[in-house]
Amino acid sequence: MSSFLTFPLVTLFISIFVFSTISLAIPNPRPFKKVYVFGDSYTDTGNTNDSTGPSIFHHVSALPYGKSFFHHSTNRYSDGRLFIDFIAESLNLPYFPPYLNKTADTTHGVNFAVGGCTTIPISFYNKNNASLAVVPQSLPTQLTWFKDHIKGSGCKNIVSTPTECTAVFDGALVWIGEMSANDYTNIYGTNVTSKTIQKLAVMYQTKILKELLKMGAKYVVVQGLPATGCFPLSFALVSPTAERDDLGCVAMKNKESYDHNMALQAKLHHLRTEFPSAVIVYGDDWHAYREVYANAAKYEFTQRFKTCCGSGGGELNFIPSPLTTCGAPGTSSCKHPSRFMSWDGLHVTQGLNKVLSKMFLDGAFAQPSFPHLLAKAAESKA
Ligand SMILES: *[C@@H]1O[C@H](CO)[C@@H](O)[C@H](O)[C@H]1NC(C)=O
Ligand SMILES: *[C@@H]1O[C@H](CO)[C@@H](O)[C@H](O)[C@H]1NC(C)=O
Ligand SMILES: *[C@@H]1O[C@H](CO)[C@@H](O)[C@H](O)[C@H]1NC(C)=O
Ligand SMILES: *[C@@H]1O[C@H](CO)[C@@H](O)[C@H](O)[C@H]1NC(C)=O
Repeated sequence: MSSFLTFPLVTLFISIFVFSTISLAIPNPRPFKKVYVFGDSYTDTGNTNDSTGPSIFHHVSALPYGKSFFHHSTNRYSDGRLFIDFIAESLNLPYFPPYLNKTADTTHGVNFAVGGCTTIPISFYNKNNASLAVVPQSLPTQLTWFKDHIKGSGCKNIVSTPTECTAVFDGALVWIGEMSANDYTNIYGTNVTSKTIQKLAVMYQTKILKELLKMGAKYVVVQGLPATGCFPLSFALVSPTAERDDLGCVAMKNKESYDHNMALQAKLHHLRTEFPSAVIVYGDDWHAYREVYANAAKYEFTQRFKTCCGSGGGELNFIPSPLTTCGAPGTSSCKHPSRFMSWDGLHVTQGLNKVLSKMFLDGAFAQPSFPHLLAKAAESKA
């Protein structure tokens, strides 16, 4: 809308303005000026790369990563766009650049998500001899990066620096992508129980959210864990005789992510009471994934568990080692990734991201719905 302000003729400006608010503003509004994004590899648009990312997936910095959309690697763990990229498109904003790219334009948002990142600080995993935990960043690191990003604004918290913090969060959406899947993966081969991870991870997620809300965040989306038991990596890490659920997925892993989401939602419920002027949406990815796994053909997927890019063939086409996963010499990627749900054994295809993000944007699989959050944001601007 601001481009109209440069129009020299006031009358023309007014008529265009009136016209645009009636008809043009509806299909292409900008409900938010910017988005602050947090998360792990499901949301990372380039903070990670081959040498810094999770050890099993060590080829993200080259094709075939990116082959379906960008046609080169952008260090996104997919063949194309991520869930958050489709959110950017729907908000009529450019893709949110990775925080570590210091030359990127962050006017419309910045992405702090890091592939392989945990919710619980890495020191916990080191103390517990967790050899799978190699990425030093955690959710608290991302909050530190955020604080660094807004350092110049003078915002401390909404009570002591209201003007400064209002400016930071004016027209801003805070997006906390799926987090904690890596925390559960990292405890393979250790003595740490998943119950301990649930307790600590939900505690850190809540703590970071609370800090953002205290600073003045008004519109927040928190994505829950996906149905992690349906990912090829889960099949590969458990014994072949491990119990399967109604979808044929690893029952224990799907229960683990479900339980985590329940505990997280209970905390979100408290935060909504504590911060009544904020809108906090829970993104119910777990049920969205299950809907697609249960009705894959309806969403035009022909492969649920077989990875598009990998090696070994068979039902999974996936062997969890840096020498055999997507992009390693001798591996190959499928011709039609949009028919596959799994891209590389852990991360999903652009096709699945598109379907899942549409389900979220349309209003189902979120509580309260995203359209409700948009309506609240529009109301406050009016
Ligand atoms: C990978 O990321 C690290 C940390 O951001 C950076 O220092 C390094 O230069 C990057 N490497 C490549 C090959 O992009
Ligand atoms: C960083 O952002 C700039 C500006 O968008 C872009 O030209 C450049 O390629 C990016 N660098 C990396 C390593 O992606
Ligand atoms: C980690 O490994 C060391 C050496 O094997 C062992 O002494 C220590 O007890 C382990 N720590 C935990 C928390 O299991
Ligand atoms: C788990 O605990 C046992 C018994 O205390 C210990 O011997 C073992 O080293 C621990 N495992 C790891 C990976 O630390």
